Amino acid sequence: MKIIDIHSHMLYGVDDGSENLQMSLELIRMDYEQGVRGIFFTNHGEGVVSRIAEYNERFESISLMVGKLYPDLKLYRGCEVISRRSDMDFVIRNLESGHLPTLNRTKYVLTEFVPKQTKGMQEVDYCIDALIEGGYIPVIAHIERYSDIYDDPINNIEKLKEKGCFTQVNLYSVEQDRGRVSGGARKILANEFLKHQLVDFVGTDTHRLDYKSPEAKIGAEKIVEKYGEDYAQRVLFENAERILIGKGV
Ligand SMILES: [Fe+2]
Repeated sequence: MKIIDIHSHMLYGVDDGSENLQMSLELIRMDYEQGVRGIFFTNHGEGVVSRIAEYNERFESISLMVGKLYPDLKLYRGCEVISRRSDMDFVIRNLESGHLPTLNRTKYVLTEFVPKQTKGMQEVDYCIDALIEGGYIPVIAHIERYSDIYDDPINNIEKLKEKGCFTQVNLYSVEQDRGRVSGGARKILANEFLKHQLVDFVGTDTHRLDYKSPEAKIGAEKIVEKYGEDYAQRVLFENAERILIGKGV
């Protein structure tokens, strides 16, 4: 079972993800051993934007090391941009200047919403429209996390996909309900979206060894078991390979 992990904070020293090179290499090893063969370093845009030189330098040097350690593992650039109504001009400007890296230098941008700050689907629509009008294709990060924002989750995501958005779930959410939301909300939503085939990509959202360490395999196995091998293969690997890697430069 091959997996492409399109969401991780494994590049060290730019956000609340990996703290140093040794930790980055350990996290990469853990992800690789669970079947991951492509990893996007999507550190938080807020950290990357002012440290793009360090980000690029570390990306190059880690890629060289990983190339020797695991010849069949590829690394890709990216970042995770917070979409807020008030920030969209700043976001577009920095995507254009390259201070916020897109996914593998495509027009695809991993973007998240902060539930407590986002004023319902109206604000989501505003931000998504701004990205699309700016010439970008939003990939909405961990769509299972926005139960506070949705008014009708399946319908809301269907509408966003009709606009041209793509979607990602965190693999651990398929099996566990982490985070502040109680009652299994994230696990339920992740599985609802998968059941309706509304998920395009997966990620581990790996941060550090002590916080969100790589959990790829357990979720991937559940997707195969519950939603069938064909769909699982597309979500776990093929979509990312075709859409994000095939179109990269
Ligand atoms: Fe993230």
